[in-house]
Amino acid sequence: MILITGASSGIGEATAKAFAKLKQNLILIARRIDRLEKLSQDIRAKYQVQVIPFELDIRSKDAVFGIVKRNEELFSKTQVLVNNAGLAKGFERFPNCELSDWETMIDTNIKGLLYITKAVLPYMLKTNEGHIVNIGSVAGHWNYPHGNVYCATKSAVKALTESLRMGSNHMVCFKAKTCQRTGAYYFPYRSSFCKFNS
Ligand SMILES: NC(=O)c1ccc[n+]([C@@H]2O[C@H](COP(=O)([O-])OP(=O)(O)OC[C@H]3O[C@@H](n4cnc5c(N)ncnc54)[C@H](OP(=O)(O)O)[C@@H]3O)[C@@H](O)[C@H]2O)c1
Repeated sequence: MILITGASSGIGEATAKAFAKLKQNLILIARRIDRLEKLSQDIRAKYQVQVIPFELDIRSKDAVFGIVKRNEELFSKTQVLVNNAGLAKGFERFPNCELSDWETMIDTNIKGLLYITKAVLPYMLKTNEGHIVNIGSVAGHWNYPHGNVYCATKSAVKALTESLRMGSNHMVCFKAKTCQRTGAYYFPYRSSFCKFNS
């Protein structure tokens, strides 16, 4: 199964379709379940693959661990986790930024990514295989005016990915891609777990 967070629009939705085209079964996560259900129906009809949508706010630790636990049989089949859910809010000068925007970005882009990864990783460790793709951003590589906390969250995604890679003795694959839809660069950091430290 391919598990994609933030599949209700944008890059996540496009990723779901791309994997479905490759005949992969999908677990899709987002808050807007109406959009996820419609996407699931469309993908099933077009590609004849299994698609299971879940309404989930990844900022909620209890909700993330709860949903994975309650659906353990399904989530334990995750071969690829695409940590895509994320957002940028409030590009103001630092003194004018809203605290709530900072909190939303940190809670989603960093903590939400960590919760899902922590919940699903044990299944990959058990089978000794799996891939984690974290959707980063140029903002994690180059800071820019008014980018402040968004840049910081994407720097965190980069740092966490590298740290996870080093801590798990697996193959390294580091690629930069161009987002065809927006023309923007984004950075999926793929971690392949072929062999873990014992
Ligand atoms: N588009 C770009 O130019 C660009 C460039 C660099 C990096 N990125 C990165 O690419 C990723 C996707 O961006 P996008 O442009 O495709 O944005 P998007 O169209 O706004 O999609 C964001 C997705 O994240 C989901 N999401 C947001 N908060 C969530 C939460 N708390 N719980 C669960 N799902 C949540 C949204 O679903 P719901 O609202 O339904 O929950 C939506 O499906 C982000 O990590 C972004 O930082 C984008």
